[in-house]
Amino acid sequence: MSITQTSAWQALKDHAEHGMRDVHIKSLFAEGARFNDFSREGAGLLLDFSKQRVSKETVELLLALAREAGVEQAIAQLMRGDRINTTEDRSALHTALRLPADDELQVGDQNVVADVHAALADMERLVKSLHNGEWKGVTGKQITDVVNLGVGGSDLGPLMVSTALEGFEPAGVKHINIHFASTIDGTQLADILPTLNPETTLFVYSSKSFGTIDTKANADTALVWLGEGTGKTEKEIKAQHFIGVSTQTAKMDEWGFAPAHQLKFWDWVGGRYSLWSAIGFAIALKIGMDNFRRLLSGAHAMDEHFRHTPLENNLPVLFGLLGIWNTDFLDIRSLAVLPYDGRLRYLPGYFQQLEMESNGKSVTNDGKIVDYSTCPVLWGEVGPNGQHAFYQLLHQGTQSVACDFIAPINRYDEIEDEGLRESFKTQHRLALANCFAQSRVLMLGNDAIRDQGETPYYKRYAGNQPSSTILVDRIAPETLGALIALYEHKVFVQGIIWNINSFDQWGVELGKKIALEADGILASGKGVDSLDDSSNHLIQKVLAGQTA
Ligand code: F6P
Repeated sequence: MSITQTSAWQALKDHAEHGMRDVHIKSLFAEGARFNDFSREGAGLLLDFSKQRVSKETVELLLALAREAGVEQAIAQLMRGDRINTTEDRSALHTALRLPADDELQVGDQNVVADVHAALADMERLVKSLHNGEWKGVTGKQITDVVNLGVGGSDLGPLMVSTALEGFEPAGVKHINIHFASTIDGTQLADILPTLNPETTLFVYSSKSFGTIDTKANADTALVWLGEGTGKTEKEIKAQHFIGVSTQTAKMDEWGFAPAHQLKFWDWVGGRYSLWSAIGFAIALKIGMDNFRRLLSGAHAMDEHFRHTPLENNLPVLFGLLGIWNTDFLDIRSLAVLPYDGRLRYLPGYFQQLEMESNGKSVTNDGKIVDYSTCPVLWGEVGPNGQHAFYQLLHQGTQSVACDFIAPINRYDEIEDEGLRESFKTQHRLALANCFAQSRVLMLGNDAIRDQGETPYYKRYAGNQPSSTILVDRIAPETLGALIALYEHKVFVQGIIWNINSFDQWGVELGKKIALEADGILASGKGVDSLDDSSNHLIQKVLAGQTA
């Protein structure tokens, strides 16, 4: 039975059609105080959803939908390692990567907690040998720079977290510069390599499948560069200038990593859920293992909250349900993630993969085409910069867009120089002022301005754009871990209600195959006539080397 046939879905549909769809959020505020009823706290995060177009009845009905869809049972299945990724016959156990060492989780033959902590110890060994300067390149020089080669989940998470946690570098260890290269066209490597010394550079080849052509292409170029720059053999370079991170141990052996330089994880870790595993090596190198463990503990705190908190106070459950309400009942199919802290600049891109690769699906777990909308289009940018770019559309365009505002309350306390600290604190205050002002205007429209007088048509703001605001005390490993886990679990809740598998990504596979076919034609110049007329002509232009 489709979720749309349940009494809870029908009740929500009636509730939307006979009232809430036409309600302006400002009129909900006019009815009385909302913050206490429509905000919750957990795992160090505050979620204010009072600016969403919901009443108490809406929330009750959404919770009934969650119960009818079996969200509580699904959470238990996720956490205990049931094979909920049915199309790949696997568990989805990213939560196990955050379990403390004294916990227990046996899944089939595997003592998961023991394996996870052994893998963390392995990571720590390599991080330490870089931090204490022991790791030497093939010519005997200490490593100064590390480049993470990976794409998708093997790039976005490490890049986002290492950027967000700038300032958490451990004291008293050798500083290592960390770089990221993901794009198949080689742009980042072409920019970075001229600034690096091959004798002192180490590459982390991060690929869950060890079959992603984008990462292989970057690794091939790195090998050429290291070979030419050091004059050593490929075998020597592979053994000394590369760490491999993958679930595919045989493929890592075959490629030529030294056994001691291989970091392993398991097929029950989805790529977009993998920053907590050895895929997070670049993070651990940047912030040190103690801080990496703090990141894990923050995510674990959110896991515990998700697992044990009744649905009505459960942050990821409520957050997920609000998304369902906007997407399926208010027809708002666009979600903007707007951090008001420049350190979170890669968060929208990271959440884009997390949500859209997880829930961008149209077939249910029973193989039926869905008769409702699933994942909205997620996009975003650092909020204050977005204000000077695309907020115009949010304020006066024709699209309804739901917004997530994200901000820390405190910033810059660590700056010693008083004058500079105060100046930066003023900047942070300005960012917060803008954050709160924007969510207010998006909700109220012109009513946000007192004594507005006559308003010409071009200065009219309709308002009624729903938003949630997430506040944390400060950006730190724990709060960032909890924030990421909040979105992971929100995605899970939505996947359960939409009855889709949030943990596979078959939609990207066809594109990979067809790209190989196109590359064969580009490389050989043969077979172009077998393609459609557009692709045929485009490739002919490339083969001719010019457009005219
Ligand atoms: O193509 C999609 C994808 O499989 C993502 O799910 C994954 O994060 C990314 O490619 C990279 O995959 P891998 O880590 O196996 O190289």
